[in-house]
Amino acid sequence: MPGGIRCRWLNRMRTQVAIIGAGPAGLLLAHLLHRDGVDAVVVETRSQDYVAARVRAGILESSSVELLESVGLGGRLRAEGHEHRGIYLQLPGERHHLDFVDLAGHGVWVYGQTEVQKDLVAAGTAQVHYEVRDVALHEVTTDRPFVTFVDSTGAARRLDADVIAGCDGSFGPSRGAAVPTDQFERRYPYSWLGILAEVAPSTDELIYAWHPDGFALHSMRSETVSRLYLQVPNGTEPADWSDDRIWDELATRLGHGVDGWQLTPGPITDKSVLPMRSHVRTPMRHGRLFLAGDAAHIVPPTGAKGLNLAIADVALLSRALVSAVLENDPRRADSYSDDALRRVWRCTHFSWWMTTMLHATGDPFDAQLQLSQLRWVTTSPAGATGLAENYAGLPIGF
Ligand code: APR
Ligand code: PHB
Repeated sequence: MPGGIRCRWLNRMRTQVAIIGAGPAGLLLAHLLHRDGVDAVVVETRSQDYVAARVRAGILESSSVELLESVGLGGRLRAEGHEHRGIYLQLPGERHHLDFVDLAGHGVWVYGQTEVQKDLVAAGTAQVHYEVRDVALHEVTTDRPFVTFVDSTGAARRLDADVIAGCDGSFGPSRGAAVPTDQFERRYPYSWLGILAEVAPSTDELIYAWHPDGFALHSMRSETVSRLYLQVPNGTEPADWSDDRIWDELATRLGHGVDGWQLTPGPITDKSVLPMRSHVRTPMRHGRLFLAGDAAHIVPPTGAKGLNLAIADVALLSRALVSAVLENDPRRADSYSDDALRRVWRCTHFSWWMTTMLHATGDPFDAQLQLSQLRWVTTSPAGATGLAENYAGLPIGF
């Protein structure tokens, strides 16, 4: 039918890089490619407002900050973000400060993923189709891969590309289209109950607390918004915890009253439970499909590596795709997976190490090992430097 054929052609588009997912990995990749003259189109199932408002990570390594700054995304970050020299480690009755600047040469920045996302949207460099559905990847092992989807008006679309970048997180279709050679997974027998509260942080830098009742973390988003977490059993529902119970438990675990320190409670505006797992799929490439960010790996949040890994992945991937697409040089694309996985495994180890050092398991032997490890980290310069170097971050090309 002629109408059908015309419609099919009208709905067909071509780009150099088709990007699935407009989270930080997808939008930053589009931004980096745009700066280097590579055309990209992003498809995203959610709305722009939903993606920008999701409560997510909040700590940037200095290498992430330098990268964002080098591509014109550092203005608001430097003005409104907060540089922290280090973190506090809390044990019952004692608090220790680790100064990353002294120990490893640089600190970290408190700047929410939502803010990074807003800066990327404001840059206006990514061409994004929001609120699409039925996204499917095709022919990824040929030199003519394409993506099909239904756009927000209900029209069926086809996007032809030289390569596809799967930046669609842990539940998107790219993972299914990229057949892994190996998958590695660790599930943890606990979760985090996370809250956002309209109250000034009770601390100048993050507090990571070991406590026999379970781990707690005091983080923050701004001078007026605090972000805090409690270790809870898997299967916990947010409604199981009243606001008063949350604040009481946070006060106990974070050391309220020790040396006069006080935790100030405030109105809770968001309450959610986060499962914890480590997952790596290798390689991070299947034919002309390249995976980046949560689509390729998940880390538990202890140590704040998820967002930084996504940023490091796309920094490598954009260089690889620029060489492949503009200069017809496949070498960086060929080594992308191995290059990215070096850092992925370092961060996977660090996140696992921080997680297992700080969370209560109910086993007294585990507790003694954790306390011994924490004493080493808080008293030995070698132990402290190892934590500082990994937390504050390694260079992008590590
Ligand atoms: N089609 C298009 N987009 C999709 C699809 C799909 N079928 N499925 C999921 N997406 C989108 C999601 O809606 C989301 O916006 O892909 C995006 C993936 O974004 P993130 O989950 O934020 O993942 P990533 O960009 O890799 O960033 C990693 O996010 O989960 C945190 O801790 C993690 O901070 C880290 C960061
Ligand atoms: C956060 O602010 O959300 C956060 C900070 C540090 C972590 C995890 C989460 O280790």
